[in-house]
Amino acid sequence: MSLTQEIPATSPIGRDTPRVDGPLKVTGKAQYTSDFHFPGLLYAVPVEATIANGRIRNLDTTAAEKMPGVRAILHRQNIGKISRSVLEPGMEGICEERRPPFEDDVVRYYGQYVALVVADTFETAKAAADAVRVTYDKEKPNVETELEADDDPEVVSTTFGQHERLQSQRGDADAAFASAPIKIDQTYVTPAETHNPIELHATTAIWEGSTLTLYDSSQGVVNFRSVLAQMFDLPKENVRVITKFVGSGFGGKLFPWTHCALAAAAARKLGTPVRLVLSRKMMFQTVGHRPRTQQRVRLGATPDGKLVSLQHDYVYHRSMLDAHHEDCGETTPFQYSVPNLRVTFGRAKRNVGAAADMRGPGAVPGLYAIEAAMNELADELKMDPVRLRVINEPKIDEGLGVPFSSRHLLECFELGAEKFGWSKRTPQVGSMKRDDLTLGWGMAGCSWIAGRFAAEASVELRDDGTARVACATQDIGTGTYTNLAQLASHKTGVPLDKVDVALGDTSLPKGPLSGGSLATPSIVPAVLQAADNAIESLLSIATTIPESPFKNRKSADLAFDGGRVFLKAGVASGGVPFTDLLQRANLRLVTGNGNSEAMLGDPKPKFSTHSFGCHFVEVTWQPEIARLRVSRVVTVIDAGWILNPLAGRNQIEGAVVMGIGMALFEHTSYDPQNGAPINSNLADYVMTVNADAPPIDVYFLDYPDREINEVGARGIGEIGLAGIAAAITAAVYHATGIRVRELPVKIEDLLA
Ligand code: MOS
Repeated sequence: MSLTQEIPATSPIGRDTPRVDGPLKVTGKAQYTSDFHFPGLLYAVPVEATIANGRIRNLDTTAAEKMPGVRAILHRQNIGKISRSVLEPGMEGICEERRPPFEDDVVRYYGQYVALVVADTFETAKAAADAVRVTYDKEKPNVETELEADDDPEVVSTTFGQHERLQSQRGDADAAFASAPIKIDQTYVTPAETHNPIELHATTAIWEGSTLTLYDSSQGVVNFRSVLAQMFDLPKENVRVITKFVGSGFGGKLFPWTHCALAAAAARKLGTPVRLVLSRKMMFQTVGHRPRTQQRVRLGATPDGKLVSLQHDYVYHRSMLDAHHEDCGETTPFQYSVPNLRVTFGRAKRNVGAAADMRGPGAVPGLYAIEAAMNELADELKMDPVRLRVINEPKIDEGLGVPFSSRHLLECFELGAEKFGWSKRTPQVGSMKRDDLTLGWGMAGCSWIAGRFAAEASVELRDDGTARVACATQDIGTGTYTNLAQLASHKTGVPLDKVDVALGDTSLPKGPLSGGSLATPSIVPAVLQAADNAIESLLSIATTIPESPFKNRKSADLAFDGGRVFLKAGVASGGVPFTDLLQRANLRLVTGNGNSEAMLGDPKPKFSTHSFGCHFVEVTWQPEIARLRVSRVVTVIDAGWILNPLAGRNQIEGAVVMGIGMALFEHTSYDPQNGAPINSNLADYVMTVNADAPPIDVYFLDYPDREINEVGARGIGEIGLAGIAAAITAAVYHATGIRVRELPVKIEDLLA
């Protein structure tokens, strides 16, 4: 029986629940970072380096300073001290670009900030920024796209820990490959991609005495506070970070960037609030990107399709100073059963800004390569690609040597194939037609990590019949407001529209990053425990106050259900509403706190915890006019138990749309002359738009994963983007006979 059937019909969890913040958004009342106004607010515009490699020779602010309305121009000589941040316990202190702004006069990437103009209006600040004259000692930048590892130490340290270059190994991959009767040996390339949330990065900094308040578009206010406190030498309690709504982030807003420090430094200097909103062009330069990857995959198999060897050697580009690790090999050791395996990585330094996590970091480019190679192997074997995956389904995680907490990938394939109509596929290239169109059908599997960050939450029951749930996490557009309301309503019986949700503020109980698809699984235990504790307080009040009908009973004799307190023996009595008890006790509210520990990165876990899934894709191809379209997608996801299937399907649909972009459109190109991202605007950085988005059918399996939390909910923000590009390139091959191994697939590739 699925969990959903065990949950009372009155509970909103596990049911399609429209977003509780929907009305605020559609009426324009939701306040995003740059919607907050403050008396005396000034506007900051950074000056961007126009070289990608060299040194600042001279920075002349004379003309800009004379412009009316200019309040200050900050640069290396006058910005004041900004310290570097280090990792603190509890995953705090993380930022991707380690160098604080203006720390030296070396320019390492195009667009690096070299000065900051603060003025009365945005327009003045922009005009003055353009009037700052900077001369450089310029050297040729290295933005070479061919990646050869020039930087592969045995161990790479990032803020997330240590990564060994020999990432995973078992058996003898070389020998098994050499003697394998069937082999695939191909290199797959994914380009740099840029996060393009519609809401630009924005920061407003306010100094009052020795306290700093930062309004920011952030995926993790608690970590932001830690970084800013360290940079400006403030106790954490003197820093408050507020993020009420986020117009999405995709990983680009997980950690603070240098503009946050710039806004804070300007507010410190001027003693008045300062706002800094990035331009779209800056979004391509200074706030991260998914790094370019080049991945060689070698598969060896028997003629009946059993994998005997798997080698995955990948290289990604990195900035000159920063240590982002793009973990393309994360899923390789466990996705398939194979006795001989080796995964290694190397890095290539380039004059680009710091790379960053972008939706499904590591696994998304990694699974593109592995799943594309599996599809090539299936074609080589003349075997159905689903069948090949079934044959190589592992019984345990062979990388860690432990069982999976919950893996139902074969059931995903079965359901996906049935819903898509896969059995009607004829394997010959170009053999399927509809009207005048050639059809291509392809598929791929996917996976994504599951776990938990540490989380705290509080739940209040109030005498007016409302409840309040609070947690310093944030809603980046995924539905976290709704998740918190659902969980609190489920436990307290207070209807959804009477649950206030407070989040996005470091003054609340510490909450998780909205990242790694881990926010939902992390908050579940904290909120449920907080609600239990609030109810326990209520029951203890019910047994003690003289005005209570339960006076002198024991708490253990009482039950709480649907917002009412009962004698366990007499549930039929109808009970007493909690509002009654609070009013009789003359109390405004009772509060409960909850917290849960992190469950992530344990080197010797008892279980391997991941979500799984698959995509089936149809493309249409018109060779006469070289038009390729994705016409239909069926995606099945096994992500544990789904707290809100309505928002969940929306997450997966969005990821599939983004995956079409990854396969067919998105790439950031750097100019070899000056190192600038060339297509740094929404006209030239092509993304999937509505006209490119086909009907997408999303199905969830419904197996609770009790290793993750008590309701068995894993996360779903990222998995939908994994594997989809490989399914699309397989469909492209099936339609056209052209195998594209460098994303995105371009029209010119198909004209060959
Ligand atoms: Mo996601 S890249 O962890 O926001």
